[in-house]
Amino acid sequence: MSFKKVRKAVIPAAGLGTRVLPISKAMPKEMIPIVDKPAIQYIVEEAVASGIEDILIITNRGKGIIEDHFDHVIELEERLEKTGKTEVLEELNRITGLANIYYIRQKETKGLGHAVYCAKSFVGDEPFAVLYGDDVIIGEDPACAQLCRAYEEYGLGVVGIKEVTPEQITRYSSLKVELLKDNIYSVTDMIEKPTPDKVLSLFSILGRCVLPPSIFDILENTKPGAGGEIQLTDAMRELTLKEGMTGVDFTGVRYDMGNKLGILQATCEVALKHPEVAEGFKAYLKELAKKLD
Ligand code: UTP
Repeated sequence: MSFKKVRKAVIPAAGLGTRVLPISKAMPKEMIPIVDKPAIQYIVEEAVASGIEDILIITNRGKGIIEDHFDHVIELEERLEKTGKTEVLEELNRITGLANIYYIRQKETKGLGHAVYCAKSFVGDEPFAVLYGDDVIIGEDPACAQLCRAYEEYGLGVVGIKEVTPEQITRYSSLKVELLKDNIYSVTDMIEKPTPDKVLSLFSILGRCVLPPSIFDILENTKPGAGGEIQLTDAMRELTLKEGMTGVDFTGVRYDMGNKLGILQATCEVALKHPEVAEGFKAYLKELAKKLD
């Protein structure tokens, strides 16, 4: 049996980014560059490569440059055309034509669960993917596509999961899982930011999920949880207990762009594979490494 195809995606990008201050004071952390593209462009490209047609980005005050990035800049495009810089021009046009992108503002920063709830009318009665705006995942097979396939196979909400360290798990979420097949698990319980005695396993939700529209009835009544925020994990726990969920231990490398070390790791690793700078950057790093103790 095959379930409904996932066509819509939501990218929450309205967080305050307090862990990466001061860069996120006037600039959205989702616009932090990894070599030559802002983080959110990698995420939009992953959604498009996964077959998503319509994308809703949840923004807030001060995040207008996200909208500008995916829009035309006529004056710049005319100049590139006149000066024969066709390659760059084609790249800019490609970005503008990536997908149908819609925007809505989360008027108060009440948490990820609240941000997703803002997508209710956009989503309607369909399953949808959520790609966290500060989690960039790079791999051959797009992580979002891996989750969509699991949704289409099992008809249950899906979370992207990976094992993290005992030190990280108390800052993330922790899941109770049973192996179904290959890298797919049945999820039977979850908890956000557990104290060490409440940890269910080292599997944590990292950056991606696919949800059925029934999540909105749950979110409507989800009370603030860890950190006083309306937590998506709390709503997904209720969904798990009601309908069940699956977890996909996705392939691909995940970079946490909401954290300073994550930004540096993404920059280095992507630069080392970037056709324009890889060679020069590698030579530079080798020289630099000699000077490190
Ligand atoms: P995070 O908890 O990582 O983002 O949310 P944050 O709140 O910006 O982080 P810190 O702790 O202050 O540094 C994961 C994703 O959910 C979005 C964020 O933009 C991020 O992409 N988010 C979070 C919202 O859209 N709205 C919120 O109210 C909270």
